[in-house]
Amino acid sequence: MQVNVKLAKNSYPIVIEPGLLQTLKIIEDYITGNEVVVITNNVLADLLLPTVKSQLKCYDHNEIILPDGEQYKNFDSLNKIFDELIAKQCTRQTTLIALGGGVIGDMTGFAAACYQRGIAFIQIPTTLLAQVDASVGGKTAVNHSRAKNMIGAFYQPQCVLIDPLVLNTLPAQHFHAGLAEVIKYGLIQDAEFTIWLSEHHAEIMAKNPEILITMISRCCQLKADIVAVDEREAGLRAILNFGHTIGHALEVMYGYENILHGEAVAQGMFIESHMSYQLGMLDEAEYNKIIDVLTLFNFTKPNLTKAQCEQLITLMQHDKKVKTKDSVRFVLLNSIGQPELIDIKLTDLHNLICNN
Ligand SMILES: NC(=O)c1ccc[n+]([C@@H]2O[C@H](COP(=O)([O-])OP(=O)(O)OC[C@H]3O[C@@H](n4cnc5c(N)ncnc54)[C@H](O)[C@@H]3O)[C@@H](O)[C@H]2O)c1
Ligand SMILES: [Zn+2]
Repeated sequence: MQVNVKLAKNSYPIVIEPGLLQTLKIIEDYITGNEVVVITNNVLADLLLPTVKSQLKCYDHNEIILPDGEQYKNFDSLNKIFDELIAKQCTRQTTLIALGGGVIGDMTGFAAACYQRGIAFIQIPTTLLAQVDASVGGKTAVNHSRAKNMIGAFYQPQCVLIDPLVLNTLPAQHFHAGLAEVIKYGLIQDAEFTIWLSEHHAEIMAKNPEILITMISRCCQLKADIVAVDEREAGLRAILNFGHTIGHALEVMYGYENILHGEAVAQGMFIESHMSYQLGMLDEAEYNKIIDVLTLFNFTKPNLTKAQCEQLITLMQHDKKVKTKDSVRFVLLNSIGQPELIDIKLTDLHNLICNN
């Protein structure tokens, strides 16, 4: 299965196949030059790196192994990558390969964007979140000590190579969190896909490879459609933030180490759907369908205390990405597949979020 990301410059394919990592011959079409550096973390260095390396025999290849975890998505790791690329005398003909989840993908992409003002890179995403979201669309970044993803670049890979079989070793909690972003695509863009997800719940949870291919490729296609229209998030791309205005505030409130991004987004989708319902945008039947699909996939509505509600509102007011002078920006839904950007006045936020 192949999805094409069509951009004015730098269009590229996303290839999705079970077992792709065992037969990576296709990668040769996207490696420019003769040097390859695989960037990964210490977990995947044991699990997947030997397989990938065995496919790169025709190239001068090296690896850079970073410590695992979001806390290492920072300038120290980026510098480590640059130190090693310089020590290995890597030229502009080098291709970087990101083997990992969103953390490795975001850092490798940013390193590729910067090294010698831009070298080629390939994404091999190994988490569900990275396969359906982080590896698609060219956003790359590292965290600043005071703000997540604050320093980065839009920089597209040569290709994205997705093997759903790698998800067999992914911890269950991460697979579950990735499903929140999968459901999000259905809710913002594709009512039919939302029904399909419910109908195939059992096969998805059993990681049936054929079903995962259909699911992942549909998500990649939906994101590619948006990125093709709005590569740099000047407009339409913002709809991908459904569930995220609340989700980001929840991540800060609970602490990033205590809740996974997808889990926070799922809770955000519960609250933002309820807001859409209260505002008369979603009718009751449509609202219930959203609650049903989230519940079927074992996500639960957050049970916030009054104090936590107030804290959430304060956090959203400080989130530069969503606050305007006297309001906060949300992606709300008119129905499944019909999102709309709505600015909610601070004076209305309390009633909408805390009284439910
Ligand atoms: N660039 C984008 O558009 C974009 C979009 C969404 C998220 N992100 C970023 O992605 C990051 C989160 O990504 P993530 O959820 O993939 O987290 P992650 O990269 O930290 O991976 C999660 C955990 O799973 C492990 N792992 C990865 N693949 C595995 C496998 N196949 N088997 C066993 N273990 C495996 C990792 O070592 C890690 O411990 C965040 O930094 C976020 O900002 C970027
Ligand atoms: Zn997200």
